[in-house]
Amino acid sequence: MGIRSKFITIIAVLSLLATLAIGYTSYMLSRQSAIAEAKSKGEIIFNYIQASSKFFSKFQYPLIMEQFDDPDIFLPELMSKFVVNRMEYEIFEETLDGYHFKQATIDPLWPDNKADAEEEQLITYFRDHPGDQLKEGVMDKNGNKFFYTAKPITINKEFCLTCHGDPADAPADQRDIYGVENGYNWVMNDTVGTSIVYISISKALANAKQSAIKIFSVGLGCLLVTIICIWIFLDRAVVAPIIQLSESAKDISIGKNLCDSIHTDTNDEIGGLANSIDRMRISVNKLLKRTCPGKDDTK
Ligand code: HEC
Repeated sequence: MGIRSKFITIIAVLSLLATLAIGYTSYMLSRQSAIAEAKSKGEIIFNYIQASSKFFSKFQYPLIMEQFDDPDIFLPELMSKFVVNRMEYEIFEETLDGYHFKQATIDPLWPDNKADAEEEQLITYFRDHPGDQLKEGVMDKNGNKFFYTAKPITINKEFCLTCHGDPADAPADQRDIYGVENGYNWVMNDTVGTSIVYISISKALANAKQSAIKIFSVGLGCLLVTIICIWIFLDRAVVAPIIQLSESAKDISIGKNLCDSIHTDTNDEIGGLANSIDRMRISVNKLLKRTCPGKDDTK
């Protein structure tokens, strides 16, 4: 392999690695910022749901309950913050795509609240780690990637069990609407579910991948142009003159063309080498005691 090929191979391999590293770093940075953005969106949504939930429990619920004497009357939209949360969020989702909120529960009253396999894992995690009040991360769901923020739902008040304990204690209206099969016989201090907000990051990750591919392609294009330029430059400035000088040196070694002076137009190392070979030509010529008509090689 010639010097030029060796040099170009080293440059090509190093530049390719650098371009790959730049593309990969760009993808990782965009991924990180997509996740950070999803995280802060999740926090905002969660805070809003919690604020609305607290407002309901603190101000609305006592007032509503004052209006009804009969414990068997139960109007879900008015008397359960879980219903209010769920329905409010359903309306929110109508206008905003890529966000989802769920009060995932292992054994729920409302079938849509049933936890899926990943949510069950989260509930088990919260059961096993009672100190942890928050878990977040990236989750794959039906081929889409989401950033999730989850908090445990624990039965921490006796009054929860009026509706979720023995079905016989629950308001008759609730039994009529939800039946008596699921959502009952929960026990005090058990973590029955998790409130979870999903923020889709599939689109952001696809964009990150695309821009990394673009950066890589542009880098590859620049690399190709650079290699072609270096190839041409090496050919003209180094390889061709060296081949020519090597031919001249070969000629001198066999006493050929000793009257043809050797020179290049450049002032660089190649020029220096040409001067040395020319001086060698003159010396060889002198040693052989030859004269060159019309030339003064005594200098
Ligand atoms: C007055 C009755 C009542 C009380 C009291 C009550 N809930 Fe519920 N809860 C319901 C109803 C009805 C639903 C169904 C929600 C729906 O339709 O989405 C529900 C839903 C839930 C869900 C979602 C899963 C499911 O069953 O669909 C959780 C979790 C939950 N409640 C926890 C609690 C906790 C914790 C308390 C106490 C702080 C509590 N509930 C108090 C009636 C009640």
